[in-house]
Amino acid sequence: MSAAAGTTNQAPETGTAAPAAAKQRWSGLRRVVAQPKGLVGLTLVVLYLLLAIFGPLLAPHDPFRQDFAATLKAPSAAHWFGTDQLGRDVFSRVLIGARATLGVGVGGVTFAFLFGVPLGVLAAWRRGWIDALVMRVIDVMLSFPDIVFALAIVAVLGASTQNVIIAVGVVSVPIFARTARAVTLSILAEPYIEGSASLGASPKRIILRHVLPNISGTLLTLSTLLFASTLLSASGLGFLGLGTQPPNPEWGTMLGESRSYIRSNPYLATFPGLFLAGSALAFNLLGDALRTIYDPASRHAVRKRPWLGALRRKARPASRDAKPEATTGPAPAVSVRDLRLAFRAGSGLLEVVRAVDLDIQPGRTLAVVGESGSGKTTLLRAIATLANPEQVAVTGGTILIGGESAIDLTPSAMMDLRRRKIGVVFQDAASALNPVLTIGAQIAEAVRIGTDLDAAAVRQRCAELLSDVGISDPERRLAMYPHQFSGGMKQRIVIAIALAQDPQLLLADEPTSALDVTIQQQILALLGDIQRKRGMAVLIVTHDLNLVARFADDVAVMYAGAIVEHGAVAQVLDSPRHPYTQALRAAIPGGAGRRGKPLDAIGGEPPMVGMLPAGCAFRPRCQRTHGRPECGRAEPPAEMVAGRKVACFFAQEGLS
Ligand SMILES: Nc1ncnc2c1ncn2[C@@H]1O[C@H](COP(=O)(O)OP(=O)(O)OP(=O)(O)O)[C@@H](O)[C@H]1O
Ligand code: SF4
Ligand SMILES: [Mg+2]
Repeated sequence: MSAAAGTTNQAPETGTAAPAAAKQRWSGLRRVVAQPKGLVGLTLVVLYLLLAIFGPLLAPHDPFRQDFAATLKAPSAAHWFGTDQLGRDVFSRVLIGARATLGVGVGGVTFAFLFGVPLGVLAAWRRGWIDALVMRVIDVMLSFPDIVFALAIVAVLGASTQNVIIAVGVVSVPIFARTARAVTLSILAEPYIEGSASLGASPKRIILRHVLPNISGTLLTLSTLLFASTLLSASGLGFLGLGTQPPNPEWGTMLGESRSYIRSNPYLATFPGLFLAGSALAFNLLGDALRTIYDPASRHAVRKRPWLGALRRKARPASRDAKPEATTGPAPAVSVRDLRLAFRAGSGLLEVVRAVDLDIQPGRTLAVVGESGSGKTTLLRAIATLANPEQVAVTGGTILIGGESAIDLTPSAMMDLRRRKIGVVFQDAASALNPVLTIGAQIAEAVRIGTDLDAAAVRQRCAELLSDVGISDPERRLAMYPHQFSGGMKQRIVIAIALAQDPQLLLADEPTSALDVTIQQQILALLGDIQRKRGMAVLIVTHDLNLVARFADDVAVMYAGAIVEHGAVAQVLDSPRHPYTQALRAAIPGGAGRRGKPLDAIGGEPPMVGMLPAGCAFRPRCQRTHGRPECGRAEPPAEMVAGRKVACFFAQEGLS
């Protein structure tokens, strides 16, 4: 294992960092105007906004001045849109009315956004009864037709512009809440959220830093689309005389005032109606173009730096110097005793990890191997304090990380333990990184947690971490986004993030299985190199015994939730004592002396969780059990045999 090996995998880049960042900033706008509907919609929206701002300056007449000598005049050069029943200039009133009309739309959408989005995010984050309550209230609200609901609110509050804003806002709250909940749930399922949690990031930080920036595109689209319907609802209330009160002009109110003259003077309704319909169309077109870009299905393709990305949270004032002990010492970095984990299934429990014992000393690597479904990930997540207590129960045993219990902690104690002692590397580096943040921002976030370093120190530390994981030119690369790196480079970045808090224990769940063979070896070489330099303990879950042989010190073989053989790699893989380990080794492709021979597949299937056979769990597949009734009577205990622990009644067999 060498550092050099770790530095050879430099991805070809698609451009330099600074132009790339600048490109990202404008790509959202470019993608809108690249669509005809986006271009038309955006142009019209800008024109309407200009009208709302500068309308009063452009009006040729005083919109409030009555002239009873010139009432109900048809359009002419003096009065482009004619005059109304009080002789007021309709063109001037339409121009002035833009501000009130669009203002009600902006107010209504802002109201709905401010109440609906936090409600939806809260429901998705907390789940349980809060989620159920929010969803039921939303269902009830959505069961009323919008305009009826809005009318009822205005009827209670009284007719005024501000009450119309509240009414149309309340009507849209459930739509924002439901959408925010749905997109938040999908973001929370992303591995980079778990990665952030594994570093001890608080819920507030995760929401501000990861959830809001990622859902901002969808919410922007929704706001634009809802703006159109809010505008129409508000104008509907204005038409009924419940909105902006005369003599102030507003397009809906103007339509209402023109009702009596619709046959004799249709232009009175035509012009405000056209402006109103045009504004709804403009926002709909723009919203539709945004939806094409920010549709959740293509969310990861979005290259835009999010507008909510500017939200920042101050680092917590706790000090990293408060570490209770050094990384090297007599205590194991992790010590697990008689650990039992069970999935909650209905009213019962399904045991998935059974009486696991393991220790990892600082500076050593333990590989956990076993067939799919043997409980490796469940074990690793419990050690990482990442097991979801609503799904997984610790039914027995202890986990000590650097001497501190990792079980039954309060949420804040758990976050603190993770931050100080544990780093986690996930399998899929691509989804472990937030696609809308630069890698500099993501590493900085991990560095900042629990420290009070200033910006320059954080940046320097980020660059050091990138160098540590073999990425050259770190200063420049900090400004780049995940999509600008290859798979191997992304996994290096994920490792850099995991190392940001100097963990005593690094946990890696199949960190290389998504990579090709050459890169796998480079990443494992890198992990080994870093481990030696920092004296960390590493627990790695893998299916690949060849990699275990090359990079691990110890190996624990799991079968049906229990460790059946555990010892130094050289002993366990060279002369396995458990029939399952022997079968696994015989199934290694390209093993010594096996070239050209077919692989020996392990017959049968591993048992389903909660459906273990009586006695030894491996008995239905074991080649050694024939004629041995002991195997069916009890579960074999793990005992020392030839320098390693083996759970088989006949592990001594063949030893002289
Ligand atoms: N929420 C759950 N409820 C019930 N059973 C579950 C749940 N999640 C996982 N399991 C089952 O628990 C067992 C252990 O799962 P785990 O993911 O720990 O296995 P693994 O050894 O990591 O497998 P792989 O190598 O495929 O990743 C599997 O049989 C799996 O189907
Ligand atoms: S105890 Fe019996 S069934 Fe289990 S592994 Fe040993 S020989 Fe096979
Ligand atoms: Mg797994």
